[in-house]
Amino acid sequence: SEVMTEKELYSVYKGVYVPKLLHPTESLKYAEDFTFRSDDIIIVTYPKSGTTWMQEILPLVVSEGDFTVVQSVPNWDRVPWLEEHRAMVLNLENRPSPRMFATHFHYSMMPQSYFQNKPKVIYVMRNPKDVFTSSYHYYGMASYLVKPGTWDEFLTKFLDGKVMFGSWFDHVKGWLNAEAKDRILYMTYEEMIWDLKDSVSKISDFVGKSLSTELIEKIADHCTFKNMKQNKMSNYSLVPEEFMNQKKSEFLRKGICGDWKNYFTVAQAELFDFVYKDKMKDVNFKFMWDE
Ligand code: A3P
Repeated sequence: SEVMTEKELYSVYKGVYVPKLLHPTESLKYAEDFTFRSDDIIIVTYPKSGTTWMQEILPLVVSEGDFTVVQSVPNWDRVPWLEEHRAMVLNLENRPSPRMFATHFHYSMMPQSYFQNKPKVIYVMRNPKDVFTSSYHYYGMASYLVKPGTWDEFLTKFLDGKVMFGSWFDHVKGWLNAEAKDRILYMTYEEMIWDLKDSVSKISDFVGKSLSTELIEKIADHCTFKNMKQNKMSNYSLVPEEFMNQKKSEFLRKGICGDWKNYFTVAQAELFDFVYKDKMKDVNFKFMWDE
């Protein structure tokens, strides 16, 4: 089959690549004009950092344990991406508060009403070497993305931000330097793996729900990798194979920390660390993966 290039598959929106198929011009315009409410809750991520996981946890917390929604509504309609074509047909304007959204936008790409109405944000970050590893597999199976090529080729692109939604470094730095930090909950994929119950509890506090220990345990149990893999509404099995070929690589692929170690050579890891140290030198946030 023929190899599609960046030029064919992506457009450039506010300086970053976005896949044309998911984000036609009208969708980007829709996102740009969108009016947030101050009680909206937005899951913000760089792709492959735990978006789907949070799209499972958040509705369970907000609904105080209504499991029917996560079992009957696909994640992309339950917590829709603002900038995806689906958003335009979902009648988001009339959804009852608190509405939940997802976005891969950088801080600098957020629509004007975000800065005016200050909705809540849950920003999920993940070890960028694992983000890279997850992305490599995903780019190889999703037909709307440019094939990753070799590990080295994709590494060059990733470190240069020549991938969908641009540079991981810029994304994370932009959101860590955001204003109105009392409206932002910073979470990491690693802490969710480490202690999911504690993470669910943090999320409930942030959205103003006080849930019983029993319910927190029930939610955490429902949201384990193993259980989410079984959930048709969250494992992307509803997406046609020509769009995402899960025979090549599953969407819920491994769900672990540190899988990068199985793929990076010493030289590739050193190059990554070299770029990381330079780009992240002014960042004060204490990441678990730095320890
Ligand atoms: P891997 O490819 O490393 O397995 P996103 O939803 O932002 O695209 O991120 C996808 C990544 O999150 C995948 O990583 C996927 O397996 C992982 N993931 C999704 N749900 C998870 C869960 N319940 N527990 C652990 N990892 C999960």
